Amino acid sequence: MRAERPRRVATKRIRVNPREPEREAIEEAAKVIRSGGLVAFPTETVYGLGADALNPDAVSRVFEAKGRPPDNPLIVHVADPEGVYLLASEVPPVAERLIREFWPGPLTLVLRRTELVPTVTSAGLDTVAVRMPDHPVPLELIRAAGTPIAAPSANRSGSPSPTTADHVMRDLEGLIEIVLDGGTTEIGVESTVLDVTVEPPEVLRPGGLPVEEVERVIGRVKVPEWARGLGHAPSRPRSPGMKYRHYAPRAKMVLVEGRPEAVRSKVEELVEEYCSRGLRVGVLATDGKRYEGAITLDLGSSSDLREVARSLFYSIRALDEMGVDVIIAEGVEERGLGLAIMNRLRKASGGEIVRA
Ligand code: TXA
Ligand code: MG
Repeated sequence: MRAERPRRVATKRIRVNPREPEREAIEEAAKVIRSGGLVAFPTETVYGLGADALNPDAVSRVFEAKGRPPDNPLIVHVADPEGVYLLASEVPPVAERLIREFWPGPLTLVLRRTELVPTVTSAGLDTVAVRMPDHPVPLELIRAAGTPIAAPSANRSGSPSPTTADHVMRDLEGLIEIVLDGGTTEIGVESTVLDVTVEPPEVLRPGGLPVEEVERVIGRVKVPEWARGLGHAPSRPRSPGMKYRHYAPRAKMVLVEGRPEAVRSKVEELVEEYCSRGLRVGVLATDGKRYEGAITLDLGSSSDLREVARSLFYSIRALDEMGVDVIIAEGVEERGLGLAIMNRLRKASGGEIVRA
């Protein structure tokens, strides 16, 4: 971690129309980016904390503001598919097929990098992660700034990713120049990160684009156990982010996995047990279930995981705000978006997993 304390600044929150962002707001934010400052903005996945990806000092400030370990590289955002050729020295045919199919969208590709990418941005690796977001605000911001934008999720390192401008303010007010407030983000979990420098390509983080969709286009990819949120990531430098605790609420969190009926009775049992110890209990539930004695937040229908993904981080943060001591989460099926949801829940629970 860097020794310097992050510098304090006044954070300006600017409301923008997420569909047609106002010209003045974009220009003002672009000016900040060009002068090495930090701007948080919505994307289709979560809010990002952006800086000029080609300016090492600006990128260092991102690490300071987030309290992010310097060995965890950032995703570089581009405003059109061609942008990838500036940053990547090699774009294999599978990557080109994926770009044609899924950009703009929640797919990040890890590629060999060019000399243009500063060492801090890619944390000293010889690769760079690139994505083109599907959201007018970052697309116009990148165009107006005239530079690719490095942007991790706009939360303090280790805490749940932000899906509203309020979340960003809570974590980063006083540390960044501007928050562009474009309302709640649509997908709610971060992009899928796919390493296409290896054969077969390997999922480094499941996310907003289901692995099944990727496989429909390029055939089988590898999904290691640790990318599902199980076990420990190897200390290989290819997936540095995976070794850190992520998405953690202040409250203790327990994840219950298994068949729906078994999960339900296990959660009931745990709620009763924690309540009897005088603890305040919150439950992240699906399908409108209620648990007596606990504050239950409904994530949505288990048959439409888009809803669950969208409300996941929001609900974890909401239970924390309500001051619960323990959060019990119902697991979902690991299909489609379920893979990303389970990865986030497993990590947020720090390995406290109960099999029902
Ligand atoms: O949806 C998203 O991806 C959001 C929005 C803002 O675009 N961004 C985001 O960034 O989630 P961040 O920094 O929170 O997560 C980036 C992930 C980390 O796990 C990091 O380790 C990995 O991507 N990553 C970045 N560059 C990499 C590289 N060169 N090789 C391997 N993994 C990399
Ligand atoms: Mg993050």
